[in-house]
Amino acid sequence: LDNGLAETPPMGWNSWNFFACNINETVIKETADALISTGLAALGYVYVNIDDCWSAATRNSEDQLVPDPKTFPSGIKVLADYVHDKGLKLGIYADAGIFTCEVRPGSLYHENDDAELFASWGVDYLKYDNCYNLGIKPEERYPPMRDALNATGRTIFYSICEWGVDDPALWAGKVGNSWRTTDDINDSWVSMTTIADLNDKWAAYAGPGGWNDPDMLEVGNGGMTYQEYRSHFSIWALMKAPLLIGCDVRNMTAETMELLSNTEVIAVNQDSLGVQGRKVHSSGTAGCKQVWAGPLSGHNLVVALWNRCSKVATINANWEAIGLESSTSVSIRDLWKHEQVAGDAVSFSSRVDAHDCHMYIFTPQTVSHWEI
Ligand code: DGJ
Repeated sequence: LDNGLAETPPMGWNSWNFFACNINETVIKETADALISTGLAALGYVYVNIDDCWSAATRNSEDQLVPDPKTFPSGIKVLADYVHDKGLKLGIYADAGIFTCEVRPGSLYHENDDAELFASWGVDYLKYDNCYNLGIKPEERYPPMRDALNATGRTIFYSICEWGVDDPALWAGKVGNSWRTTDDINDSWVSMTTIADLNDKWAAYAGPGGWNDPDMLEVGNGGMTYQEYRSHFSIWALMKAPLLIGCDVRNMTAETMELLSNTEVIAVNQDSLGVQGRKVHSSGTAGCKQVWAGPLSGHNLVVALWNRCSKVATINANWEAIGLESSTSVSIRDLWKHEQVAGDAVSFSSRVDAHDCHMYIFTPQTVSHWEI
């Protein structure tokens, strides 16, 4: 969507994966404080996004949405002001149906009024969900909210949460700044790997202004190992996914913080070329030894060696698959070790622990076919 936003994928936090409906204004404020105090905000995580359950069960007598008086008694504008004062941005959630998934009032046929209200509160980001949609095609339900947001005159990131039902990559580029390509993620290896593969299919449709959204991060929520979370974060970054933290940033372990704050991996996600990396090679049992790669600005490549096998494996960065002539030599930087691992290599492989992912920047000495 050409609204001046999302030149690179959005970064921030969303309440859903950890808190679900257990949210309130204190949690949102403390999260904003924690994004600042941990240093995550300074690394680019600026959106503080409130998901479902912020609203009261019914609209008011003027047919407006109202914040739940028990959990958000001060209202949303106060929160927007609070996060803006810290240099952060506020996101909110609504639904392109008659109810949200948690049965709060939906915004279908209220698009203009609700967009006006969100803009008047100072909202910067809208996640627009797909529940209770009366069976109306998403291609009809999502554009009215784009137009309504546009008409407010406030620049608001528009996140289409349609769960990949109607192949949104094919039509959402002109409608939103991101579109979910899959059903909800959960905090497990099976869910994360399945979603990575589903999102990979739509790589060609991502770019500045509009990104495939394989759903929010589960890093730090406890259901995966350190290696699995490193894979999750590496592949989401490489796929140019929105990097929306989904854990309780007020109580992160050092390991969680180390993963989320890797500036070299974040830089891959935020690279100005804006091309989604893809799975380019797989071998081994059920293709569990995988190479994911893509072009970056400055003729660089990002290369991830992802071991989805149940045992340690040596994975080869297949030159042809990553788009290099066999004679091309590259220097290689390891983005997790934070060190140069080769100066002029013409082949490269690494021993990767089960479910772990190594990630590199390859700098070729000649131009690769990605740039032609
Ligand atoms: C479904 C969405 O896909 C989730 O991300 C979350 O927003 C829930 N709905 C909230 O009800």
